[in-house]
Amino acid sequence: MDAHDPTLADAVAALRRGECIGLPTETVYGLAADASDPAAVARIFALKGRPADHPVIVHLPIGAALDDYAIAIPASARALAAAFWPGPLTLILRRQPWISDAITGGQDTVGLRMPAHPLAQQLLQAFGGGLAAPSANRFGRISPTTAAHVRAEFGDRLPIVLDGGACAVGIESTIVDCSAAAPRILRPGMLGRDRIEAVLGPLGGDAGPAPRASGLLEKHYAPRAPLRLCTRGELEAQPGERVIALGVLPAGSRGIALDPQPSRYAHDLYAALRQLDNAEGQAILIEQPPAGTQWEAIHDRLRRAAAGAGEPSP
Ligand code: TXA
Ligand code: MG
Repeated sequence: MDAHDPTLADAVAALRRGECIGLPTETVYGLAADASDPAAVARIFALKGRPADHPVIVHLPIGAALDDYAIAIPASARALAAAFWPGPLTLILRRQPWISDAITGGQDTVGLRMPAHPLAQQLLQAFGGGLAAPSANRFGRISPTTAAHVRAEFGDRLPIVLDGGACAVGIESTIVDCSAAAPRILRPGMLGRDRIEAVLGPLGGDAGPAPRASGLLEKHYAPRAPLRLCTRGELEAQPGERVIALGVLPAGSRGIALDPQPSRYAHDLYAALRQLDNAEGQAILIEQPPAGTQWEAIHDRLRRAAAGAGEPSP
């Protein structure tokens, strides 16, 4: 077998042995293991170098019953699932007792998502159960959006990476907490607040402390190089630096111009950050995207990347 070209059957067999595999989804690639096997889930944490008290999302096959995974499911969660699954939305719900602490980080809630990527769904159907999967990057680093990114993160330690091409969305799912009285967005995603509110009505502001969630840490999604958000004028005043620009690269700069349309920008952002992070230079300068709800998730990821950049790998 070519280690870089595994089949669906290879992936199912590995999952049944309790191993982890690299899995394409429409948002980012996941590091997947059998959700019903705590030892397999523990291997995800070991590979990622992720603290054990950080919960992971359980990915579900189309047709799975929410009630098999969660209890006390409010109407809001059923409405969101009906509207947006399969798709880039994670729901936080009260867990069924069988969902292990390895998945929930010891909390009494579980994150559930039904991914839309056809290869992810084929695998979930063939496996016949839920797959626990965080993003397939080492803890605190940029999420992978191609199979090559996943191989670069883990190398021989992860022999099976299914290649589903470049992820269509490119940044992580929108997380909505439906476990408390009033639903709220814990992590913005390209499925925007406007579309969530079109189903649920207006969401209140933030209520109370957010549950533990590594995607919510201030420092996350970080390249190794220092990273700074800049105005166009600042970019133009610093020729020769590595830059990510909106639309057109400023004269004299090295770097990548991303499409100024938010969904296309999100699609290419992480690959651009990785590419520049691997190039020589002092810092990565990023042109601040415009305001507006369609850019909310992108601003969130850029802010966290800037907060965590330039630190040694954990
Ligand atoms: O798009 C995505 O969500 C990708 C793909 C692979 O599905 N997954 C992903 O996983 O981004 P991860 O582990 O990198 O981020 C998932 C986020 C984390 O911030 C985690 O802490 C949070 O979901 N989460 C999971 N279960 C939770 C829970 N019970 N309560 C609060 N947050 C939870
Ligand atoms: Mg992640």
